[in-house]
Amino acid sequence: MITFPRGRQVVLGVGAGIAAYKACDLLRRLQDDGFEVTVIPTNSSLNFVGRATWEALSGKEVKTEVWEGTQSVSHVALADAADLIVIAPATADLISRLASGRADDLLTTTVLAASSPVLIVPSMHPGMYLNPATQANLETLIARGFYILQPDTGRLTGTDSGIGRFPETLRIIGKVREICDSNSGLKGKKIVVTTGGTMEPIDPVRFIGNKSSGRQGLAIAYEALREGAEVTVISGITEEYVLGGIKRIDVKTAQEMQNALSAELESADALVMAAAVADARPEIASSEKVNKEDFRALSLVKNPDILAESTKNKRENQVFVGFAAETGDGIREKGLKKLHSKGVDFLYVTDVSNGKVFGEKETTGILLSKRGSEWSFKAADKHELGRRIVSELIQELGVING
Ligand code: C5P
Repeated sequence: MITFPRGRQVVLGVGAGIAAYKACDLLRRLQDDGFEVTVIPTNSSLNFVGRATWEALSGKEVKTEVWEGTQSVSHVALADAADLIVIAPATADLISRLASGRADDLLTTTVLAASSPVLIVPSMHPGMYLNPATQANLETLIARGFYILQPDTGRLTGTDSGIGRFPETLRIIGKVREICDSNSGLKGKKIVVTTGGTMEPIDPVRFIGNKSSGRQGLAIAYEALREGAEVTVISGITEEYVLGGIKRIDVKTAQEMQNALSAELESADALVMAAAVADARPEIASSEKVNKEDFRALSLVKNPDILAESTKNKRENQVFVGFAAETGDGIREKGLKKLHSKGVDFLYVTDVSNGKVFGEKETTGILLSKRGSEWSFKAADKHELGRRIVSELIQELGVING
């Protein structure tokens, strides 16, 4: 079973405001939006909503201090993993601590260590919110790149009303989506990835195939998803996998793959042809099992070169990435030749001597670009190559679209 590193991670920081109970709903809606949520409450906020509630809702252990489980260095691990930090409700005290760079509990320490975007949702009495001290702290945070969601105006705790109400969950979710979109390099782009090997039937039980697992193409699809792309995976024969958020089209033969691809390519911004397509297929796929005595030789016909055929209709504003598996000497030179003969923008040439790379988690090879850049990978995680390809797609599609 091929598994993927993780979903998008949100740290939900909860300050000691009465609106903490509304953050329970926010947590649920974030989960509905596909986020994996880790809650870091401040210690005083547990007076409003207890640890057990957060643990039950998030399905994760909840800590408030850096001193709990010190061996896991939680603040650094949480900060590294976070795609986004949302602090809701953010109290005047918490805002003040963040603005002065304090690190006196797990939440503030995590924020300080993080490089992800941070959304602050202030919620407090109008007197505290409008106090110049709080406003100055918010200005400081804005200047440092924090996102602030203005509180709503209306009924407050008790009989008061004014600015300071915790916004409706949907408004917060809307802001979260906006932040994610502005940090997604492939938002609005359609990426088609082919992956796995093809299976060319000889008879009902025999076939010509190869050792491709589909891991590399899937790692690229996953990294493209994380950048907000609309991803179609045309999946040949692969190891089992579940990847949420993609359009998956399962195919077996090269011809099926070509048909599926031509239907998807018209609306695509980029193609990553990572599939190991069989170069030839049996001339006749027998509907009856071929007898042992007759099974001596196979007559083969060439399969279409799907990538080379596709590049003939490639539009100026499309980016194509090809793959090549080579053995022996001169891998780079073989790759450069294919980069040009296939008419692609990028080609990753991989060294599969002694059966390496196919089916493994690591890859060794060189990514070549038609602009002359090169990136070498040595026993690198396939996701590392995936991230490099995705970042080049972001760059190229950005240049194309000005
Ligand atoms: O020619 P070669 O098989 O080395 O080229 C590899 C590249 O061409 C890969 O991107 C592969 O997916 C694609 N290919 C194809 N159709 C074929 C053979 C390979 O699209 N019949």
